[in-house]
Amino acid sequence: MISTSNWLAHAESPLRGTIRVPGDKSISHRAMMLGALADGVTRVSGFLEGEDTLATAAAFRAMGVRIEEDGPGRRIVHGVGIDGLKAPAAPIDCGNAGTGMRLLAGILAGQSFDSVLIGDASLTRRPMRRVTEPLASMGARIQTAEGGTPPLRVSGGQSLVGTRHELSVASAQVKSALLLAGLYARGTTTVREPHPTRDYTERMLAALGWPVEFSPGFAQLSGDHRLRARDIAVPSDFSSAAFFLVAASIVPGSDLVLEAVGMNPRRTGLLEALRRMGARIEVRNAREEGGEPVADLHVVHAPLQGAEIPEAIVPDMIDEFPVLFVAASAASGVTVVRGAAELRVKESDRIAVMARGLRDMGARIEETPDGAVIHGGAPLGAAEVEAHDDHRIAMSFVVAGQRSNAPVAVRGCATVATSFPGFFDLARTAGMGLSRI
Ligand code: S3P
Repeated sequence: MISTSNWLAHAESPLRGTIRVPGDKSISHRAMMLGALADGVTRVSGFLEGEDTLATAAAFRAMGVRIEEDGPGRRIVHGVGIDGLKAPAAPIDCGNAGTGMRLLAGILAGQSFDSVLIGDASLTRRPMRRVTEPLASMGARIQTAEGGTPPLRVSGGQSLVGTRHELSVASAQVKSALLLAGLYARGTTTVREPHPTRDYTERMLAALGWPVEFSPGFAQLSGDHRLRARDIAVPSDFSSAAFFLVAASIVPGSDLVLEAVGMNPRRTGLLEALRRMGARIEVRNAREEGGEPVADLHVVHAPLQGAEIPEAIVPDMIDEFPVLFVAASAASGVTVVRGAAELRVKESDRIAVMARGLRDMGARIEETPDGAVIHGGAPLGAAEVEAHDDHRIAMSFVVAGQRSNAPVAVRGCATVATSFPGFFDLARTAGMGLSRI
């Protein structure tokens, strides 16, 4: 870990001005993957220069794909076609990225060569049977470590067959892994989800000319087609904007605009949750860019009240719960989160880690197996909190520090660079109190 991984967050000033957060992580991963598998050259703009997505780009370079850097956020991917990948010389390191590893597992299951997927300490603890088991039902051979965790050892040369999958967890990563394996399968691959999840894989496949049928909670495709390269414009990541939406909502005097934020409805559940809590967030200039809805978000401080978060919107805000817990701690009244057990298997156990840190700051939170009950309004104060090498936990504690009556030391912030390079400087530019210790 680098020495600058511990930060001190403190109340400083209202958040003001107009900012733009970096490109969407989910779309950036998929742009590298599908650009690599397409026939022709894909120019990507708005690519997230984060460690997770750089690891995915490196994975395809290691499999013989030429990817040129054409300035910040710009990549030129020289696609090798659906059957053009070459055996990597070494294990593929996905770093901290669950999305990278799970989606790659689907693609690699259909190759003629063997491969191994490894990751960092956090990724090496995460459950992979949710992809390896349904992939096995399609004929894939993937070995996990004992306990179903990485490394993943993928045996090439299997002939895959399309199958029907009824997922028990709502997971875009699992759905995407199966659809990507389905590109290499004989027959039809069908995925049904218990709740609709982000549909970027389906949208991008369709945009690159692969026939795919999809509607919320359902996706279906068959093998034996080709992808045609097409330029991809990546919008700003709603999940990165989320930290600023909450910070500006809870710091008095704030008045902030976030430009060109991705507004795919499968991602914007936090807006609904914050509005229920009384936040003042205006969606301006809604438009489409690169086939995705985007808008400018104008957020003004407002006193928040606790709310029950409807279970139906949990998948639409699955990455935003750490920062929602912060908003709930700063609100008056009680916030109840249910049906969010998936939070326990993210980059960290996000329910336990947030509850511990916020409690250390003075908040009143009860953990439940699938969520939390947060009694808002207790004053937040000095603490030393641990981010457990989880980027979203680190940034959420920085936001909590903006409402604390004394500085909060956040330990383990190096992984912020996985999804939000430049967060430190942008947070300070917007008015957050933040220094390195
Ligand atoms: C993602 C899906 C979600 C999300 C992750 C990105 C994706 O994970 O938490 O940050 O790009 O498909 P799950 O599919 O595990 O819910």
